[in-house]
Amino acid sequence: MRRKVTIIGAGNVGASCALRIADKELADVTLIDIIEGVPQGKALDMLEACPVEGSDVRVVGTNDYEDTANSDVVVMTAGFPRKPGMSRDDLLLKNASIVRSCIAAAAKYSPNAILVVVSNPLDAMCHVAYHTSGFSRNRVIGMAGVLDTARFRTFLAEAAGVSVSNVVAMVLGGHGDTMVPLVRYTSVSGIPISQILSEDEIAAIVQRTRDGGAEIVKHLKTGSAYYAPSSSVVEMVESILKDQRRVLPCAALLEGEYGRDGIFVGVPCKLGANGLEQVYEVELDAHERAALEASSDAVEELVAVLRQNGY
Ligand code: NAI
Ligand code: 2OP
Repeated sequence: MRRKVTIIGAGNVGASCALRIADKELADVTLIDIIEGVPQGKALDMLEACPVEGSDVRVVGTNDYEDTANSDVVVMTAGFPRKPGMSRDDLLLKNASIVRSCIAAAAKYSPNAILVVVSNPLDAMCHVAYHTSGFSRNRVIGMAGVLDTARFRTFLAEAAGVSVSNVVAMVLGGHGDTMVPLVRYTSVSGIPISQILSEDEIAAIVQRTRDGGAEIVKHLKTGSAYYAPSSSVVEMVESILKDQRRVLPCAALLEGEYGRDGIFVGVPCKLGANGLEQVYEVELDAHERAALEASSDAVEELVAVLRQNGY
C-alpha cells in the first residue's frame, strides 16, 4: 500500500520537507496551509518535478484537513519563524495556538499517524501536540537534535579537515541556548575528538552549534533555516516509514529516563515503524548530567507558562 505523509505548513521548512520526500519517493505527500493557493501551487510545482526526478508519488496541496485523512506520518511545521533578535522562546504562545488547532484537526483525520513536530519552541510545542492529540508517547516526536547534531558535525568536520560522514556525534537537551553537545561521545571514525582538536577549538564549536540557528537568522534577516531542518525531518520520516530503527537524537516524552518525568527533551531515540521504539539512557558524567538538567529545566519553564495559559 502507498504510504502517505502530511506536511502542515507550506512555508520554507514544510515545502522543503515535501520536496525532499517526493524526490526520495518515500511517500505520497499532502501539503496543507492556512493560506489559500500556496500549498496548491507549491504541490503542483513539485508534482511536475517528479517526471524529471524519476519519482512516482502524488503531491497534493490543500487547505482542507479532510484531504490529509489516513496519513502514516504528520509533520507539523506551521507557525512563525524567528526574526533577528528573537529567541525561539519568544514564539511560545503564538505558535502554541497554531499547533493546537492544526494538530486537533490532523489527529481527527489521521488517528493512527505518527506526529513529527518541528514548530518552535520545539520541546514546548511537542507538549502541545502530545496533549492535543491524545496520542501515546511513541507517536509524538520532536525534530531538533538531528539538526543541532548536523550543525555540530559540520563544524567539527571542517575544523578537523575530515569527511563529515566520519564524524559521529550527538546533541541532547532542549532545542535552545542550553542544548548539550556530548563531546565525550564525539569521534572521528571512533577516534575521540579530544585527540584531534584542542579543548579551545572544541569549545568554540560547541558555542557555534548552540548559536547555529541564530547565525542563519542573522544572515537571512527575514526568517530562519530550512534546508538542514528539512533534511533532518526527512531522516526521521524515512526511518519511521522504512522501519530502519536509526538511533537519532529527538525530542521524546521522558517517563523516568534521565531522572525526568512528563517532559519532552532531546535524547537518543530509536525510530521505527511504531515511531519512538526506544529511548537510550547513555551514561553521563556529573558535568553532562548538570547540563542536561539545566536544559530540561529551561523546557519546564516554558511548559509552566503554557499551563498558566490553558495548555
Ligand atoms: P514559514 O513562515 O516559512 O512557514 C510557516 C507556514 O505556516 C506559513 O506558510 C504559514 O502560512 C503557515 N501557517 C501559519 N499558521 C497556520 C495554520 N494555522 N495552519 C496551517 N498553516 C499555518 O516558517 P518556516 O521557516 O517554515 O518555519 C516554520 C516553523 O518551524 C517555525 O516555528 C520555526 O521556528 C520552526 N523551525 C524549527 C526547527 C527545529 O529544529 N525544530 C528548524 C527550523 C524551523
Ligand atoms: C533553527 O535552529 C530556527 O530552530 C531553528 O534553525
